[in-house]
Amino acid sequence: MIATNEEYEARIKAEKWFHAIDFGNGLKSSGRFAIDITPNWTLLGVLHLLEQMQIEGLRCLDIGAFDGLVSFILKSAGAKDVLATDIFDKKTLRLGRELLELDIDYLPNQALETLPQALPDQKFDLIVMAGVLYHLYSPLDGLANCRRLISNGGMLIIETEVVSGDEPHLFLNSSSDEYPEAFTYWRPTVSGLKDMLKFCCFNVIAEVKTDHRYTVLAQAVRPSDVKEKTRSLEAIHSQVRPVVPSYLDFKAIEQETLLAPVKVKAEIPIYTEIDPKDFSCSFSLQPESNV
Ligand SMILES: C[S@@+](CC[C@H](N)C(=O)[O-])C[C@H]1O[C@@H](n2cnc3c(N)ncnc32)[C@H](O)[C@@H]1O
Repeated sequence: MIATNEEYEARIKAEKWFHAIDFGNGLKSSGRFAIDITPNWTLLGVLHLLEQMQIEGLRCLDIGAFDGLVSFILKSAGAKDVLATDIFDKKTLRLGRELLELDIDYLPNQALETLPQALPDQKFDLIVMAGVLYHLYSPLDGLANCRRLISNGGMLIIETEVVSGDEPHLFLNSSSDEYPEAFTYWRPTVSGLKDMLKFCCFNVIAEVKTDHRYTVLAQAVRPSDVKEKTRSLEAIHSQVRPVVPSYLDFKAIEQETLLAPVKVKAEIPIYTEIDPKDFSCSFSLQPESNV
C-alpha cells in the first residue's frame, strides 16, 4: 500500500536529519542547521559544480552520503546509476529514496578505506566525496581510493574543511583546540589538498570557496597528463611500483584507455567564491533559503 502524505510527514519528523531536503508536496526534512542559516551550506560548492555538469547517463558514486541529498540530486538529474555509500547505515537515506521513488543503490556500513575491494573492477564517471576527507586517518589513501574507483577522464568533486596557509600542509587536528571534534583528524590547506590530488593523478578543473570550506572539481588523468608536476612527483609517478597495497599502480593507470563521458555544460570559472546568503540553484531538492 502506498503511504499517504501525512504518513510520510510523520516518518520524516520521527528522524533526525543531517540534510535539509525539499521532497515536494510540502514535505521537508529540517537538516542540521538553524533556520537563519542557508540549508546544507557546506554543500553549496558541490551543488554549484553539479549544476554546470552534464549528469545524464553517468555512473555516479556518493562517498559518505549520509541522508543522501547528493545521491538524490544526481539521480534526479538523470544519472544512469547512483551508488550511495557510507560508513554507517542511515534510515533517513532509505526513507528519502522510498519517498522520492528513486532507483539508487545503497552500500551502507562500508568505509572508503576498503571500498575498492568491495567494488572490484568497478569504475565510476563521477565521484562526489563531500565532508569526508577530514574524517579519514589517511587523506592521501582516501584520495588514492577515489582514483582507483574512477575512470580516466572521470570527475571527482571533493569538498572539505580547509585551514588557512599557503604551504601544502596537512594540519593534525588533535594538535590544537581550535576545532575540538572527535572524528576530525586532518585538515589540509588548499594547496595541500590540490597537491594530494596531483599525486593521485587528478588535474584541478575548478575551485569553489565557501567560508572555510573548499570544493574542488578534478579530472582523473594519466600520470603523464598531470599538469605542473615537480621533479619529485615525476619521479614518484614514473618509478614507484605498488609494493604496498595502498600505493597506486601508476604504470597501470598510465595504460588505462577507458575514457568516461563526463562533460561540463560550459566553461566553468576556475575560481568561484560563494556567499551562502546569495546562493540559489536549480535543484528542487535543495530547499530555498530563508536567509
Ligand atoms: C560530514 S558528513 C558529510 C555528509 C555528506 N556527504 C555531505 O557533505 O553533506 C560525513 C559522512 O561521511 C561518513 N564517513 C565518515 N568516515 C567515513 C569513511 N571512512 N568512509 C565512508 N564514509 C565515512 C559519515 O558517516 C557521514 O555520513
